[in-house]
Amino acid sequence: MTRVFSGVKPTGHLTLGNYLGAMRRWAAVDQHEADALFCVVDLHALTVDHDPARVRRLSRQSATLLLAAGLDPELCTVFVQSHVDEHARLSYVLECVATDGEMRRMIQYKEKAARERQRQRQRQRGGSVRLSLLTYPVLMAADILAYGAGEVPVGDDQRQHVELARDLAVRFNQRYGHTFVVPRATRPEVAARVMNLQDPASKMGKSDDVGPGIVYLLDEPDVVRKKVMRAVTDSGREVVYDRETRPGLANLLEILAACTGGEPEALSGAYTSYGALKKDTAEAVVEVLRPLQARHKELCADPGHVEGVLRAGAERARGMARPTVDAAYRAIGLLPAVAEAETAGAGAVVTV
Ligand code: TRP
Repeated sequence: MTRVFSGVKPTGHLTLGNYLGAMRRWAAVDQHEADALFCVVDLHALTVDHDPARVRRLSRQSATLLLAAGLDPELCTVFVQSHVDEHARLSYVLECVATDGEMRRMIQYKEKAARERQRQRQRQRGGSVRLSLLTYPVLMAADILAYGAGEVPVGDDQRQHVELARDLAVRFNQRYGHTFVVPRATRPEVAARVMNLQDPASKMGKSDDVGPGIVYLLDEPDVVRKKVMRAVTDSGREVVYDRETRPGLANLLEILAACTGGEPEALSGAYTSYGALKKDTAEAVVEVLRPLQARHKELCADPGHVEGVLRAGAERARGMARPTVDAAYRAIGLLPAVAEAETAGAGAVVTV
C-alpha cells in the first residue's frame, strides 16, 4: 500500500479552498486507498513572525477541522508535527545533504522572504527574515522522507519543495547507502482550484491576512452568503465558463460544480444572470459546510477526545519514523547511542 503524507500549516484559518482542493479528497479517497498520514505542521508556522498563542490555537483548530472533515483515526494517522521529534532530528541531517544554493533557488523562499522583509519594515523591526524560512524546505523534506512516503498530494505551489525532497533522497541514498524512499508529488485529478472571490487571479489561501474574498470553513452561513454575493464578477452579461477572460465567473462556476458534483461548463448554461448563479453558489457552499461545522462543534465539546486522537496519532507516527531516522543517523556516520542489538530488536534497519 502506498504511503501518503500531507501537511497543513497552522498559519491561518482553514478555507473553502483547503477543503475543496485537498481535505475533502483526503477523507473520501486517500485515507481509504493509501496508508495515509495527515500532519498539522506546526514547526513550519514558526518560520515567519508569529504569535505563540495564535499558533497554538490554530494548531488545535486545524487538527479538529481535519477530523470534522472526515479523517478517521481508524483509517489514517492524524498528528501534530512537533509531537514527533524525528522531524527535527532528520531535518538537521538533511541540512548536511542540501546546499545553500539549492535553498536560495526556492521560488517560495524568494517570494516569502520579500514579503516578510516588507512586513518587518512596516512594523519598524528592521528587514530581517528568520533563518528557518530559508531551511523550511529541508524540514518539509524530512516530514516526507521520515515516513517513507511515496506520494505527496500537494498543490502546484509545493511541487518544487517535493522535487527537493526527491533530490535529497536520491543524493543521500547514493552517498550513504539506500535509506529513503524517493517520493513524488501527486496532484489530485479532480481537486478544485478555488480562487479568492475578490481577486480571482490569486488562490484562496489561508495565509492571506483577512479578506472578504476568502470563505473560512467556520464562517457562519450568513457570512458565507455575503462573501459569495459580493464576489467580483466580470464585465459582460451572459454566464459563460472561460477561465481566461472571465476568471471571476469561472471561479464561481467551479465552486458550484465542486459543491454539487456538476461540471462548470454545463452549469453555465443553466444561468442567465450573475445574481442567480451567486445565490445558488452561496447555498451550495453553505450546504457543504453544514455537516463539517456540526461535527466541528461536537468535537469542540469534547476536547479530551481530540487530544487523545492526536496523542495516539503521534505515537503511531513516531513508530513509523523512528527506524528510518535512526538508519539515516547511522548511515551518515553518527555513533549509535545504544547497542546495535537493542535497536535491532526495536525494529531498526541495521546496515553496518
Ligand atoms: N509546505 C506546505 C505548505 O505550505 C506544508 C507542508 C509541510 C507539507 N510539510 C509538508 C505538505 C509535507 C506536504 C508534505 O502548504
